[in-house]
Amino acid sequence: MKSVNVVLVLLCAILPVALSFIDGLVPNGDFEEGPKPWQMHGTEVVDPHSVPHWELSGFVEYIKSGQKQGDMILPVPKGHFALRLGNEASIKTKVQVAKGLFYSLSFGAARTCAQQEQLNLSVSPNSEPKDWGMLPMQTMYSTEGWDSFSWGFLAESNEVEVIFHHPQTQKDQACGPIIDVVALKSFTLPKKSRDILQNGNFEEGPYVLPNTSWGILIPPNVEDDHSALVGWMVESLKAVRYIDSDHFAVPEGKRAVELVAGRESAVAQVVKTVPGKDYDLEFYVGDARNMCEGSMLVEVNASNSTFYVPYESKGKGGSKLAVLRLKAETGRTRIRFLSSYYHMKSDFSGSLCGPVVDGVRLVRVPHA
Ligand SMILES: *[C@@H]1O[C@H](CO)[C@@H](O)[C@H](O)[C@H]1NC(C)=O
Ligand SMILES: *[C@@H]1O[C@H](CO)[C@@H](O)[C@H](O)[C@H]1NC(C)=O
Ligand SMILES: *[C@@H]1O[C@H](CO)[C@@H](O)[C@H](O)[C@H]1NC(C)=O
Ligand SMILES: *[C@@H]1O[C@H](CO)[C@@H](O)[C@H](O)[C@H]1NC(C)=O
Repeated sequence: MKSVNVVLVLLCAILPVALSFIDGLVPNGDFEEGPKPWQMHGTEVVDPHSVPHWELSGFVEYIKSGQKQGDMILPVPKGHFALRLGNEASIKTKVQVAKGLFYSLSFGAARTCAQQEQLNLSVSPNSEPKDWGMLPMQTMYSTEGWDSFSWGFLAESNEVEVIFHHPQTQKDQACGPIIDVVALKSFTLPKKSRDILQNGNFEEGPYVLPNTSWGILIPPNVEDDHSALVGWMVESLKAVRYIDSDHFAVPEGKRAVELVAGRESAVAQVVKTVPGKDYDLEFYVGDARNMCEGSMLVEVNASNSTFYVPYESKGKGGSKLAVLRLKAETGRTRIRFLSSYYHMKSDFSGSLCGPVVDGVRLVRVPHA
């Protein structure tokens, strides 16, 4: 009897860890399990508890792959079903996580009308500085009609609530974003230290959804803590694209960043520096082998200087190393990369693209 008790106690001790989340889709994160016909009115879901693992509120539609709106086939990112959020609608789910770990939440989303749309994403509990963020879904960057987005958070408990909320009020209810493939990936954050540039090769970043060949967008202007690109901030109006070596040419390692929206798309990091000292800023500029051709120019703001690094892209992959010498003016140097020009893929898809940046290093120049 005693040994059974011991086993039970052990099981209980192990269980929370065993249950905590493994990289991949959250339960029913692809919405393949959906409402029964009597829980719907046309495409509208009328029973808020009829999508397993999710709770719905407001005007939410269950979209079936192949479904048309006018002449347009509505995009369903994965499998056969997805959800569309009407005005002020929201969907939420609870997910098991491991307290103390940093997570990147990834999901697929598509706009269905011409208007620019926003999505309010929140993960709670999350203390700082706020637990939600507004993600713009302005321009679509992929050719498939939908994009993947990411959001980072530190798990402050073993269970978090994830809410997608569509805040806009548009005349047409059927205009909100379509959501699908909600997934999580955990990673250990490197110790917070601004002494050296962090994650310069961009290897620590959002979960790229399996079977997607267009990378994942890191939304702009979300607070530092919610950038799924460890160490970096996307400080601009538009997203940057995170790309993987399985589908793109990447100068170093397996991941890199593509500056997809000209001057409206930038990544930055603040590094501790010694005032008056010289540093070499090294990085690769290249193209992702995604038919993004043309004369590219990467603009780097660091300390008080602006540098321009040209790159001729044939759209077939390739990169070059740039080394810039700069003098630190203060104890904190902000380094920022953007693309001077806008580029579009040469496949007539109208998809935005741009130069790739990777392998960023800041090296103090030894005294002569
Ligand atoms: C975003 O969603 C969160 C949680 O649902 C809510 O507290 C916040 O007020 C929302 N923000 C806006 C601007 O709608
Ligand atoms: C990826 O695609 C392959 C082949 O189409 C399929 O067998 C596999 O199940 C897909 N994986 C996911 C996670 O969707
Ligand atoms: C660089 O910026 C610092 C702080 O803003 C300023 O004090 C300094 O004069 C600037 N140096 C140059 C060369 O512009
Ligand atoms: C970049 O540097 C240029 C020239 O020093 C300056 O005019 C510009 O405002 C800087 N941009 C940012 C975003 O810091």
